[in-house]
Amino acid sequence: MNILDITIREARPEDLFYIVELEEKTFGPDAFGFNHVFYLFEKCRDYFLIADYKGLLVGYIVSCRESEEELHVHSIAVVEWFRGKGVGRRLMEETINLARQRGLRRIRLEVKTENVAAIKLYEKLGFVRKDILRNFYEDRSDAYVYLLTL
Ligand SMILES: CC(C)(COP(=O)(O)OP(=O)(O)OC[C@H]1O[C@@H](n2cnc3c(N)ncnc32)[C@H](O)[C@@H]1OP(=O)(O)O)[C@@H](O)C(=O)NCCC(=O)NCCS
Repeated sequence: MNILDITIREARPEDLFYIVELEEKTFGPDAFGFNHVFYLFEKCRDYFLIADYKGLLVGYIVSCRESEEELHVHSIAVVEWFRGKGVGRRLMEETINLARQRGLRRIRLEVKTENVAAIKLYEKLGFVRKDILRNFYEDRSDAYVYLLTL
């Protein structure tokens, strides 16, 4: 696999089924169901991105504008067999570029405190840990709040 064969593009309606499947496989009880994915697609389409490898959906990211200044990342996931190849970084970098171009001031996200891979990715891209939210997830585990100032 060559990372150059990955295209980052806007999501289309026909991607939603695959996104729900990826959510279920990745997040279990915390996964977004179809209705929520569809709601995000309708509301936040301009920050709903797909990583496409030769026609296969291998990752996605969705973020929503919370105010004039802030973007909130709701979910990012890469299919298991494509992880560690730079896809997550490409999805997040593209989101950061879009937010910058559109004049936003910061990006916020939550991540499980034990999710080392995601935390490393965010810190590499300049996100800074700001807070901890107790019992944030379905299994009552905690979340860190990360912020990137643009
Ligand atoms: C988190 C996730 C999106 C990262 O995507 P990815 O394509 O695997 O990550 P990349 O290959 O782009 O890696 C980018 C950086 O993240 C870090 N990273 C990625 N996987 C890592 C791992 N298993 N352990 C430690 N650091 C890791 C590294 O710093 C890496 O930089 P490097 O390549 O210069 O070493 C992916 O692992 C995933 O889908 N995980 C399950 C879902 C999830 O946890 N989502 C986040 C919820 S907040």
